[in-house]
Amino acid sequence: MNKITTLLLSASDVNLLMQKYGIDRLMDDLTFRLIKEFENFNTLDTVIPIRSGFNYNTDHVGLVEWMPVYKTGEEVVIKVVGYHPKNPVKFNLPTILSTISSYDTKTGHLKGLVDGVLLTALRTGAASAVATKYMAHPESSTLGLIGCGAQSITQLHAISRLFPIKKVLIYDTDIEAVKSFKNRSALLGLDIDVLHKEIVNILSESDIICTETSIDVGEGPLFTEYNNKPHLHINAIGSDFPGKIELPINLLKESFVCPDFTEQAKKEGECQQLTDDQIGSDLYTVIQNYDEYKHLKDELTVFDSTGWALEDQVVMDLFLDLAHEFKIGMEVALENISEDVKNPYHFLFKSVNV
Ligand SMILES: NC(=O)c1ccc[n+]([C@@H]2O[C@H](COP(=O)([O-])OP(=O)(O)OC[C@H]3O[C@@H](n4cnc5c(N)ncnc54)[C@H](O)[C@@H]3O)[C@@H](O)[C@H]2O)c1
Repeated sequence: MNKITTLLLSASDVNLLMQKYGIDRLMDDLTFRLIKEFENFNTLDTVIPIRSGFNYNTDHVGLVEWMPVYKTGEEVVIKVVGYHPKNPVKFNLPTILSTISSYDTKTGHLKGLVDGVLLTALRTGAASAVATKYMAHPESSTLGLIGCGAQSITQLHAISRLFPIKKVLIYDTDIEAVKSFKNRSALLGLDIDVLHKEIVNILSESDIICTETSIDVGEGPLFTEYNNKPHLHINAIGSDFPGKIELPINLLKESFVCPDFTEQAKKEGECQQLTDDQIGSDLYTVIQNYDEYKHLKDELTVFDSTGWALEDQVVMDLFLDLAHEFKIGMEVALENISEDVKNPYHFLFKSVNV
């Protein structure tokens, strides 16, 4: 029988891999791999359609989306991701639930199926770190975090690997999220002061800001007043759905706005608020032509992060590589491969003969 198997990486496998490899080394490798991927990205080798999905408002708001990427001649990776902002309060579950799968394009075989919850948080942090590396001032030491949920931890982790962060200014509408942030972030082992501030102070005192709130559709922006440092860089993470925005249009118009994926950001990101001529180059263009964009480190910049499927492919491949290296995960014959490939009922012959 032609046995082909799928590598399953469960939540505990992913956690074990992170512990064995080290969370800092893992974040550094992920950030490095993302940069390499952005440097080499071209639309002939990698096909990425805008994500699609179902959104609903039954007893509360939610959506399930699929985010595909096709590496020509190699693999198709599809992340399926749910966003249900009432999850933490109603079900004690994360707002983002997700799985990522990888398919062999020679046969269509499912090569791997991996937890996407932690992997999404990791790659979203790493993508912000890459954008920050290319657009923020290199001596940036004060980081503002508006929204102190799950993503705020990996934003801090990833950015602190590249910048000498000393002070972290935090704000959340949920005071419990503010209170627990210090304990949650302590696991990163950073030498930082964490201070609870109003948004207006975060805007004026920070060198880098990440906005990662679950603000409702139609409720944005998060603020209207601001008096920022001239070199402020903002990673806008939470605007990732039609009508869901975090930043005021005036600030966007004054900034160089760099989307992760322009066509998607125009539908779902901060770019919804802008006309084409007000939108800057996307991140891979900035990276591939960095000499033209070096001046950005002294200017007001916004990374409009809606979440790009390429990032999911990079983080999944990293975990599949680590799983093989550490021999962690379970190989399962998930797909039904009949001994007679022209007869799906062939297994019945066996049971009749027994
Ligand atoms: N761009 C990407 O690639 C990407 C990836 C993952 C998540 N996200 C988005 O990031 C956001 C955060 O995700 P999460 O997993 O951290 O969710 P979470 O539920 O863990 O945290 C969100 C936090 O935002 C706070 N909040 C809501 N409204 C606020 C407001 N007006 N001002 C300040 N704080 C507010 C909530 O109290 C909560 O603590 C979501 O909108 C999600 O869709 C984007």
